[in-house]
Amino acid sequence: MKAIVYEASGPPEVLEVRDLPKPSAGEKEILIRIRAVEATKSDCEMRGFRWSVSWFWLPMRLPMGVRRPRRPVLGFYFAGEVVAVGARARGFAVGDEVFGSSNLRLGAYAEYLAVPAAFAIITKPANMTFTEAAAVPLGGWNALHFMDLAELKPGDELLINGAGGSIGTHAIQIARARGAIVTAVDAAHKEDALRAYGASDFIDYRAEDFTRRGQRWDVIFDMVPGSPYGRCIRALNPGGRYLCGNPTLATMVRCALTSRFSDKRATFTFAKETREALEALKTLIESGQVGPIVDTVLPLEQAAEAHRRVESEDRLGAIVLEVPLGT
Ligand SMILES: NC(=O)c1ccc[n+]([C@@H]2O[C@H](COP(=O)([O-])OP(=O)(O)OC[C@H]3O[C@@H](n4cnc5c(N)ncnc54)[C@H](OP(=O)(O)O)[C@@H]3O)[C@@H](O)[C@H]2O)c1
Repeated sequence: MKAIVYEASGPPEVLEVRDLPKPSAGEKEILIRIRAVEATKSDCEMRGFRWSVSWFWLPMRLPMGVRRPRRPVLGFYFAGEVVAVGARARGFAVGDEVFGSSNLRLGAYAEYLAVPAAFAIITKPANMTFTEAAAVPLGGWNALHFMDLAELKPGDELLINGAGGSIGTHAIQIARARGAIVTAVDAAHKEDALRAYGASDFIDYRAEDFTRRGQRWDVIFDMVPGSPYGRCIRALNPGGRYLCGNPTLATMVRCALTSRFSDKRATFTFAKETREALEALKTLIESGQVGPIVDTVLPLEQAAEAHRRVESEDRLGAIVLEVPLGT
């Protein structure tokens, strides 16, 4: 089967198209013919072994390999068809159209992927293509997680910093579905699209610092590393919540202190990838409350170009690699 392989950390050019043996489903596994996979910032970070949150390199070094990549095929979030089911794998049948995560096994930049049937994988939303469904798990899981932590009530004012990314675009839609009034912060050219997703107000981060606007919000969902922590907390209404998607070690400590010693709550907990949350997202999608957020579609063999696009940051939503129907 065709797969995208990298043998050493480095720039996007280290990604190469190779022929690998087609995997087979183990006893408790399913074999999936991958139809689409999201190229994510995390894939890029693993490929380059450079992390936007610098301390991440430490816990990642062992699972990702010390001298060379332990998982030479990247790709976490995919959509595809089940083509084989292991003798003791439950819950799937050949022909099921599914989407989900391969977790730290990675391996979805390939024509086929064998994964435990117990992983967070479910049938894909009926109203999405494979390509659209592959763009859901990363942004959707994290957005749902943080919007749950936000405990939004109808009419709450929510600011999303970094609103144009895969997490932010899902978060806008989920927040609107829960009745919040959303201010989106991102680059100016994304304004129209972010308003179309449901933002009521927009701030261009290159022209204005939202923390110096004199405005306050009930919740700030912040995905931008290195935001001015103190000013973000001061931009909250009494009892407000600060949700940090990209914490530094110092931010983690300050979040704990804010929650302990003020009337505000600050949190940075990471999203868990569960089937239950994916089912909840599927329900939001099938009811029309959350729509697709695909920016660019490229064929699998252009994975290096997809990584360049992800790293250029100049995008609105997900970059998805489509896997042609091959062998
Ligand atoms: N905590 C968790 O569980 C978790 C999980 C996954 C990811 N993350 C992190 O969360 C972040 C967001 O993920 P994502 O996939 O949505 O990323 P993404 O798709 O790269 O989106 C980031 C967005 O932020 C914008 N941006 C960049 N600098 C900004 C600034 N100074 N002020 C406001 N907006 C700015 C970018 O716009 P431009 O086009 O202008 O650059 C882009 O639209 C990533 O850094 C990722 O590492 C956290």
